[in-house]
Amino acid sequence: MKIFIDTAKVEEIREAQSWGILDGVTTNPSHIAATGRPFRDVVSEICEIVDGPISVEVGSTTAPEMIEEAERIAQMHKNIVVKIPVTREGIKAIKALAPRGVKVNATLNFSAVQALLAAKAGAAYISPFVGRLDDAGQSGMELVHEIKTIYDNYGFDTEIIVAAIRNTRHVLEAALIGAHICTMRLEIMRQLFEHPMTDRGLDIFLKDWAKVPK
Ligand code: E4P
Repeated sequence: MKIFIDTAKVEEIREAQSWGILDGVTTNPSHIAATGRPFRDVVSEICEIVDGPISVEVGSTTAPEMIEEAERIAQMHKNIVVKIPVTREGIKAIKALAPRGVKVNATLNFSAVQALLAAKAGAAYISPFVGRLDDAGQSGMELVHEIKTIYDNYGFDTEIIVAAIRNTRHVLEAALIGAHICTMRLEIMRQLFEHPMTDRGLDIFLKDWAKVPK
């Protein structure tokens, strides 16, 4: 399973990159706004840090505008994947962009039938927002399950990016389902490494090792 970081903060991306397990980056308009920096500067810097798919979202809402904007964004770097929301206009844009070689991450996905349409239109990635569904009292992981089943049933090669991850349990469940990618904040990525028994066990081993004549 590939691991992406969900942020536009370059210092966080650099840190995750230094851990040796980072495969890509997802940004969104809120992440870019939180940096307080110009859009192009942030995106270019991210592309220099990580050699993997970098998702960057369009800000327009009609298919013709999204197509034009997506092509402009995609030209910025070979690794850019354009995020397009799974609205009806978005699906139309995805359908037009796929044969032009623009990779699309179909975003703001909250239902399995939306994911079916995105795959049929030729999206390279689908992003179900599991945490937001959980927050609304529904099951985000059930959605991932449904999408995986549908994609396997019909042999779609659209990759599932489990997004809006809230905890390490989400990452575990995504991996058990066989989702291709999880995208998460730095804090959750950090927690993937941790277990208190690892720390306690290491503490004991180090104390014993210090007693060994060398
Ligand atoms: C994914 O691509 C999105 O940027 C992200 O996961 C949104 O999740 P949030 O609910 O944490 O903002």
